[in-house]
Amino acid sequence: MTVDTFLNDTRQRLESALERTLPGSDSEPNRLHQAMRHAVLGGGKRLRPALVLAACRCGGGSEEQALPAAIAVELVHAYSLVHDDLPAMDDDELRRGQPTCHVAFDEATAILAGDALQTLAFGTLSGISQPPATVVTMVRELSYATGHKGMAGGQALDLDATGAHPSIEALETLHRRKTGALIEASLVLGALCADGDERFLGALRAFGRSIGLAFQIQDDILDVEGNSAETGKPQGSDTAADKATYTALLGLEGARKRLDGFHHDALDQLAPIPGDTSLLAALATFIIERNH
Ligand code: IPE
Ligand code: IPE
Ligand code: MG
Ligand code: MG
Ligand code: MG
Repeated sequence: MTVDTFLNDTRQRLESALERTLPGSDSEPNRLHQAMRHAVLGGGKRLRPALVLAACRCGGGSEEQALPAAIAVELVHAYSLVHDDLPAMDDDELRRGQPTCHVAFDEATAILAGDALQTLAFGTLSGISQPPATVVTMVRELSYATGHKGMAGGQALDLDATGAHPSIEALETLHRRKTGALIEASLVLGALCADGDERFLGALRAFGRSIGLAFQIQDDILDVEGNSAETGKPQGSDTAADKATYTALLGLEGARKRLDGFHHDALDQLAPIPGDTSLLAALATFIIERNH
């Protein structure tokens, strides 16, 4: 199966599950519910939930088993985008080819929609059909990845680094936390859904760390040379805001070299896994070659 077929097939099932999980737009408070739906539905690559499903499949588990974890990571991701676009953060007006949440609604509603999506994510994950000890491990994994040691901490480092010129080591830490941590957690959650052993979890965590960083480097590259019609985001936004990015620090060629290095690391990290890793390898390649 090609990676495009996998992503297209899973996207449809993920969208229906997201639709079922979100509150209806005609129930009170309507404006909040509409903002949550705007943030989640109608666009997005659904890459993180696809990674959850692919990791579970690689470990011999079924898609059904992993669906609540896949939905949870996409809800957290959607919340992070809503808050990332706010005027107090990146101040962007276009996301997935549509007005950002605070533009389509208002800032207060966007903040609340992000908050509510985050708690909906943890509620959904905690309802997964797994032994209670595994559910607790999963909730801990997602909270670590999204909290002050992971995504939220990375976003804080991102704000501190804006207008500054951090070292490449500091930039790597920032990127690993703001973006890499949730991608790493997606692989680990998928492995846990398949009841994987420590070796499997460790290999997928290492793979997730490499593709998580690669993902953000390609995101930085797309801000420079991407096309807004394809990315659905304003092009050149990082440069305009003087953001600390791989392209700002190393130039396009330097950023591409790093990207290739992490791609190779990722493929090497799949080698010790006994199951069929071809889908995960194809997803890693998709991440570094994507134009959206
Ligand atoms: C964008 O993520 C935010 C980053 C962490 C760089 P994606 O590029 O996965 O966004 P969608 O979900 O496809 O819109
Ligand atoms: C966003 O990074 C990371 C999170 C949302 C946690 P960016 O600010 O680079 O993402 P885009 O480019 O706006 O999608
Ligand atoms: Mg940002
Ligand atoms: Mg941004
Ligand atoms: Mg970006």
